[in-house]
Amino acid sequence: MRLSVIAEEDEWHRVETVFGRQSFRRKAGEALHPSASRPKCSGSFAAPSANTILLASTSRRRHRRALWTKRATAVLNAIRRIISSDPGIRRTAIATTISPVGDLLVEACLDQLLDHLGIAGAHFAGRSLADVQGFIAKHSERIASLTLVCPTVLNPHSLALLDARLLVVTGDHGLGARRVQAVLPALPEATAVVLDDYAGLTWADLAADRGERIDTAMREFLQHRDPLPSAGLSEQQGETADISFRIRGSGPPLVLLPLDLSPGQWEPLIPTLSARHCTIALGGPLFGSVASLEERGRSGYMAVVRGLLDALAIRPGESVLEVGCGSGVIVRELARRTARANRLIGRDINAYLLREARALARRAGLLDHIDFGEGRAEALPLPDAAVDVALSSTVFEEGDAERMLAEIVRVTRPGGRIGIVVRAVDMPFWVNLPLDPALKAKVDAPNVIGGGVAPKGVADSSLYRRLSAHGLTGLKCFPQLVSVVPGSERIERYQQQILAALTPAEAATWHRAVAAAERDGTFFIAQSYHCAVATKPG
Ligand SMILES: C[S@@+](CC[C@H](N)C(=O)[O-])C[C@H]1O[C@@H](n2cnc3c(N)ncnc32)[C@H](O)[C@@H]1O
Repeated sequence: MRLSVIAEEDEWHRVETVFGRQSFRRKAGEALHPSASRPKCSGSFAAPSANTILLASTSRRRHRRALWTKRATAVLNAIRRIISSDPGIRRTAIATTISPVGDLLVEACLDQLLDHLGIAGAHFAGRSLADVQGFIAKHSERIASLTLVCPTVLNPHSLALLDARLLVVTGDHGLGARRVQAVLPALPEATAVVLDDYAGLTWADLAADRGERIDTAMREFLQHRDPLPSAGLSEQQGETADISFRIRGSGPPLVLLPLDLSPGQWEPLIPTLSARHCTIALGGPLFGSVASLEERGRSGYMAVVRGLLDALAIRPGESVLEVGCGSGVIVRELARRTARANRLIGRDINAYLLREARALARRAGLLDHIDFGEGRAEALPLPDAAVDVALSSTVFEEGDAERMLAEIVRVTRPGGRIGIVVRAVDMPFWVNLPLDPALKAKVDAPNVIGGGVAPKGVADSSLYRRLSAHGLTGLKCFPQLVSVVPGSERIERYQQQILAALTPAEAATWHRAVAAAERDGTFFIAQSYHCAVATKPG
């Protein structure tokens, strides 16, 4: 009897974990259905009884998908138990379908992690509320305190449960800091510390830039919290429940969640924090920017990426560089598209994201075909004319765009192609809700949604002129619109950003309009991108 399993390629490692790697005859990376947006893996192996298992992930949501992940493992385990206990079963067909059930996964995994480490409760510190929102709602008794460092938005309803257990460290200017300061009055018990002359942009190296002040704020805040017993854990690293952890120091446990796109993450602060605490630094696909970039990589954003790759017309054998590859969404797409016949290079400034990118590519069976490594876009560690094709997507906003462009042109061979995508802050977000004109104008205003631009970054149509000014030829300019839809972490974040700009009465109107539009399936927020492809003269 043969048993077949179909799963998304990125999830295939789970199937192998449950059933055993060697037992499969695997066909990787096929698009099994013409309408499938992502390639699926299929495999079959000799099973004692049931002859068909179908696992279908329909999810495009981080939480739903994650739940699927958890359920899939549970379903697979259940199937294995059924198979081994009842050899008489025939023609079993099992399809997993997903229903929205809220933020269960991250909270469940964090809960499992603490159990695994034998810790009843811990101090927590991180940046993105999405990482802990579900955990606060479900297990707030396990949170001795929560420190949020330069969050880009706060949801006072989720955080109210923590009362005085909350420390918010925020900048004094910039979009994120303004949004945070707008909602702090709704959290009167929380402690707030403001970093002078600091914006704390999403990609800022927080612990490197302002480590001393953050450390002092945490020390003063934590010494007034209820004492926690020492964690009694040895220095180690490991992985459980899809979370990787690294333990340093001794004392009361302090769980360090990732700091979004921050290149150095907590590293500069680990020695001082570990002198007072048993620090447990977490990673993995469930948290922060990895979760967010991976979710975007399952969304309409991929149509923009595929449009760029189509326009670049990559030929077999050509080498392709992605500058600012993040968690590897685009290079993995490239590896699948090029059937592994091309040399693929991913460079990024962020060692933490590169670690996660390698782990995700390994899971997808694609790591052998991608060379991930550290590199600053403004000074790429590659010789002149090193690659046939170079691309970068949503990176030029975050640094010195002119130097990045000069470098990308330098490392591309004459006659090679260059493709760039940037968020378009010169085009408004489109919020698809029937609001009265005054409220519509307020939510559509510039800078209500979005993450800002670095002083020398580019996130507007000047991209096209800059490419032309570098002497590139055959310039194709094609701005694109992407719908961000309900169910994604991103639309929830955008909504929090909008709500931070509204009065309580306007917020109530907003919630009613969203509820009605969700019921009839018309709610989305569209976001624009500038995209361009050009050739380096031969
Ligand atoms: C928004 S993410 C985009 C990731 C990926 N391109 C994608 O579309 O999924 C921006 C990435 O650029 C990286 N980055 C920012 N500034 C950089 C620089 N100066 N040099 C290299 N990488 C940089 C960040 O670490 C992050 O991984």
